Amino acid sequence: MKPIQVGLLGIGVVGAGTFQVLRRNQEEIQRRAGRGIEITMVADLDVARAQSIVGPGVKVVNDARAVIANPDIDIVIELIGGYGIAKALVLEAIAAGKHVVTANKALLAVHGTEIFAAASAKGVMVAFEAAVAGGIPIIKALREGLTANRIQWIAGIINGTTNFILSEMRDKGLDFGAVLKEAQRLGYAEADPTFDIEGVDAAHKVTLMSAIAFGIPVQFDKAYVEGITKLGAADIQYAEQLGYRIKLLGITKRTDKGIELRVHPSLVPAKRLIANVEGAMNAVVVQGDAVGTTLYYGKGAGAEPTASAVIADLVDIARLHSADAEHRVPHLAFQPHTLDEAMGTLPVLPMGEVVTSYYLRLRVADEAGVLAKVTGILAEAGISIDAVLQREADEVGGEGATQTDLIILTHDCVEAKMNAALAQMQALPTVLAPITRIRKEELA
Ligand code: HSE
Repeated sequence: MKPIQVGLLGIGVVGAGTFQVLRRNQEEIQRRAGRGIEITMVADLDVARAQSIVGPGVKVVNDARAVIANPDIDIVIELIGGYGIAKALVLEAIAAGKHVVTANKALLAVHGTEIFAAASAKGVMVAFEAAVAGGIPIIKALREGLTANRIQWIAGIINGTTNFILSEMRDKGLDFGAVLKEAQRLGYAEADPTFDIEGVDAAHKVTLMSAIAFGIPVQFDKAYVEGITKLGAADIQYAEQLGYRIKLLGITKRTDKGIELRVHPSLVPAKRLIANVEGAMNAVVVQGDAVGTTLYYGKGAGAEPTASAVIADLVDIARLHSADAEHRVPHLAFQPHTLDEAMGTLPVLPMGEVVTSYYLRLRVADEAGVLAKVTGILAEAGISIDAVLQREADEVGGEGATQTDLIILTHDCVEAKMNAALAQMQALPTVLAPITRIRKEELA
């Protein structure tokens, strides 16, 4: 059978990695796919640079639409990123009857419903293994390997930049700002790292995993998103003293009332494997009713790890593209007509209805009755305390006035109740600075 022809839109780090791995491992890939897979056309604004990567045998153009218009191309790989031109090109490729492989989590998390519907109507596949956790085959695991299970929850370290920053803060006792500068100097963090450090990139990824795990539409607009910019080195040290590590987790969980979908810094017991994932590595824990707990670990970014995922999608398409569309694996694991609430799917819960436990750090005046007032507010709200840590007082401002950090771990309570209690505590004259609240996940 003649090789399947692939057009590549955007040959940056991942595109070049894909080209190289495909060429290096072509024999084994062909034995697996049942036919050759060849990138025969590339579109990139820098034609000369692109041509130097792919060599003279591959046609390079600066117009992505020329790739889409080429009738010999069966699969278009979109590695441009973002929601602008990438969205238009993906929809145009689908309309032209091409299968699409993309690493674009932002595009699919925000516009996935429209894109998957267009693909289904046209009978083509949109494959996106590389969009979540780079080289870790988590989409394949959720969509196929765990298909027997009712998934209960997923918790992942799915942003390498922030995990690198948190690891450095813990190792070196530095604050967020200092480590971010170092991460940028080393090339881990982008010049504009907003999507990473504010949790948006992780929220795109957990939105996709949530849809696949629970059979719901992609609903990025309903995700709760909080990044790591407000974390201090002190919180990381206190968490350590209490037996926890702080990680930026993407969490999605099935409850009786609905689906939790959230990204925020979380205290995780130090003894959990995922708490020990350091540096820029990614890891995802999936809990299924039949399989129990499973853990997936690996590189979440980089040329060849991401290429590994892109090529896995190319092989899937090479094997399945001649099958009837209804006999292929559905884009979001569940048959598209079963994704809406009329079929009994659960709504995504507002953050106020999420139940979790908390770490609180209060900067307080070291005076009689302060602890009683704080714990009184929690008791009144029905929030049970799990542990309290009080640091030795610091003398601040002379005349013997002292302040201290009061650390409280709570048991589970609903977020809306905690928000109300926090407002009351914050209003106490003896609480001297904004209270730090970090959610805690036992992941048992
Ligand atoms: N910027 C992401 C990270 C990689 O730091 O993990 C691409 O999603």
